[in-house]
Amino acid sequence: MKNCGDSFVGRARDIRYGEVMKIRINKAACVGNARCAAVSEELFPLDDDGYIAVEEIDVPPGKEDLARRGARACPERIIVIEEE
Ligand code: F3S
Repeated sequence: MKNCGDSFVGRARDIRYGEVMKIRINKAACVGNARCAAVSEELFPLDDDGYIAVEEIDVPPGKEDLARRGARACPERIIVIEEE
């Protein structure tokens, strides 16, 4: 039986099924504000010195809003969300 809800998937403005949101971070410009990690330690892990530990992250499904909040939380504006 076909699910009528499928027709809405293609119209959604949010990430569509099968697409992966990516986060890119200008790691060299991190000054250790740690506000990203305060939003999500899972998405924005810090190194032992308190700086962001990663440059690129594939956002797991369902974590897109958390990723956007983490990006907005960085005062340096060095976290970029890539949505296609
Ligand atoms: Fe660095 Fe910004 Fe996070 S300065 S630790 S990427 S809040």
